[in-house]
Amino acid sequence: MAVALRQSCAVASVPTSRRVAVVVRASAGQINPSIRKSEEKVADIIKVANVPKPKAVFCRCWRADASKFPYCDGSHVKHNKETGDNVGPLVIDSTP
Ligand code: FES
Repeated sequence: MAVALRQSCAVASVPTSRRVAVVVRASAGQINPSIRKSEEKVADIIKVANVPKPKAVFCRCWRADASKFPYCDGSHVKHNKETGDNVGPLVIDSTP
């Protein structure tokens, strides 16, 4: 991962002092560290009628507590602070 970042920074001409290291806790090549790992694929279908109103906030960082997933529980804030990442949730806003 660090090698890929250095290469992309070199291409983008980013000064060495502005490069960051990203720590990924999941196994190499995986973004999901712990959620429903026994399943072949984690996919969720939520009918619009069942979406909490007025906003539904869905996790995209894979760090939400497994009991809350697929909803965001704010765990992305800690992940971003620890890694320098910038991930956040998908918010479905049903207000007019
Ligand atoms: S906890 Fe994953 S996006 Fe908020």
